[in-house]
Amino acid sequence: MSRPGARRLRSLFAVAGLICLVGLAWLLIDRGPASTLTTPVLATAAPELLLRSGGSTTTVHAGERAFSLSARSMGLPDRIRFADGDVPFEHPFSPEDGLGAAHNADGCLGCHVNNGRSPGPDGFVADAGPVLLLGLADGSPSPEFGQQLQDRGMGADGLLTVEWLEKPGTYPDGTAFSLRSPVVSVDGADVTDLATSLRAAPPVFGGGLLEAISVDDLRAMADPDDTDGDGVSGRLQEATGDDGTPAAGRFGWKAQHASILATTRHAFDVDLHLDYDLAAERFGDDFLDDTAFYTRTVAVPALRDRDDPEVRAGAAWFVQVGCAACHRTEPYVTTVVDVQALSDEVITPFTDLLLHDLGPGLADDLPQGGASGSEWRTAPLWGIGLTGVVGHEHYLHDGRARSLEEAILWHGGEAESARDAFMGLAAPDRALILRFLSAL
Ligand code: HEC
Ligand code: HEC
Repeated sequence: MSRPGARRLRSLFAVAGLICLVGLAWLLIDRGPASTLTTPVLATAAPELLLRSGGSTTTVHAGERAFSLSARSMGLPDRIRFADGDVPFEHPFSPEDGLGAAHNADGCLGCHVNNGRSPGPDGFVADAGPVLLLGLADGSPSPEFGQQLQDRGMGADGLLTVEWLEKPGTYPDGTAFSLRSPVVSVDGADVTDLATSLRAAPPVFGGGLLEAISVDDLRAMADPDDTDGDGVSGRLQEATGDDGTPAAGRFGWKAQHASILATTRHAFDVDLHLDYDLAAERFGDDFLDDTAFYTRTVAVPALRDRDDPEVRAGAAWFVQVGCAACHRTEPYVTTVVDVQALSDEVITPFTDLLLHDLGPGLADDLPQGGASGSEWRTAPLWGIGLTGVVGHEHYLHDGRARSLEEAILWHGGEAESARDAFMGLAAPDRALILRFLSAL
């Protein structure tokens, strides 16, 4: 914390914090208890919840391009590089510029619609959308299909179909709900003996900031043996860094990739089956690095309605029921990296980037890196309230949740007590938590 910019942000923080504390006090005293849980006392984290999540990279744009703008604080040279990387990111590849015979989509945007989530899945996944990971029981790739079913192109393995199984449930107060889980089948290929995992494409923004969180900060939150006995453990995923040495995993639903460069290379290799020589002929030798640079420096959308009393009350409940045990609400200060706009920034991605066991309901039985079938990376929640701006809305690793509420109801395992606390709230207080999430 030696840089003056960060110091200024810190003092801004303190002032904002004080104002929010006073505001929250007033609000919460007025509300009175509404459930078996005590009404949230002034969670010290609450003021930070209302800051700009992506530091000075943050954009206030909340329309369909909310996930597609460059980090606001970047200077001209970096913006030019961002624009260079945007070209291959947005390009629909063809066999002439390197698209593989079998592939899942013809470009990044095919799945990350406007940098948001993939469409569907509903019925046939004929168009690009979620992908099906495959493997043997120990997580190693299938000898026949590799690590992912290729469902498009001349050499496609087979056609992926997703159907949904509905399971009704009720809140303690009698309110009914229904949750759906996917039933996957593949036409034209026998995958019955393999472990499979359906994966929706997550949104792509703020990646460079997540990359710049110090590994010591992550390690400090890990509690693999739950020594503090709070029922929430959390451990670092083991992945490989860009220099080939072991590094903490950060990206992908099981945090299986250590860096945005590795994630981008994986996308070109596996989703597109790209021929790098052909692609370089068209986009230049640096196209991989440029695409990764672009992906690192997409701006994070700002929290909206921060002065809305319901948003503030929802933020306090979010902490109170235990969501923040994983969706960490204290900000991080990013380390100094090669891009100034990503360095020394105060950010609140609402994640500890650790693996947590979320129980059998969400488990896929396909181990990845150090993650078991039931472990998932705490999903970052910044920008989650804008999910629908790209034209569709679904949540969780396979897109099974049709709403934020359903996403919460699927939490189990280490998150069971937080989910139960949510379910035990009076309906208006549950709605406050959803209101807070929709403002992120
Ligand atoms: C066929 C669909 C598809 C295409 C095409 C695709 N992705 Fe993805 N992307 C995914 C899926 C699915 C995941 C989650 C993977 C997982 O966890 O197993 C993902 C994850 C990511 C992530 C990690 C995000 C996070 O929060 O963890 C980044 C970054 C990313 N993709 C960038 C790219 C780039 C860059 C391209 C183009 C070169 C691309 N993707 C092309 C489907 C796709
Ligand atoms: C024990 C850690 C833990 C706790 C506690 C927890 N979560 Fe999560 N949360 C996760 C993980 C891990 C995922 C990703 C699961 C998946 O995709 O299968 C997730 C996913 C989500 C998602 C969907 C994100 C997306 O990108 O689709 C939402 C919304 C969410 N959590 C909200 C909450 C709320 C609200 C609470 C409190 C009631 C809560 N979580 C408590 C770990 C936790």
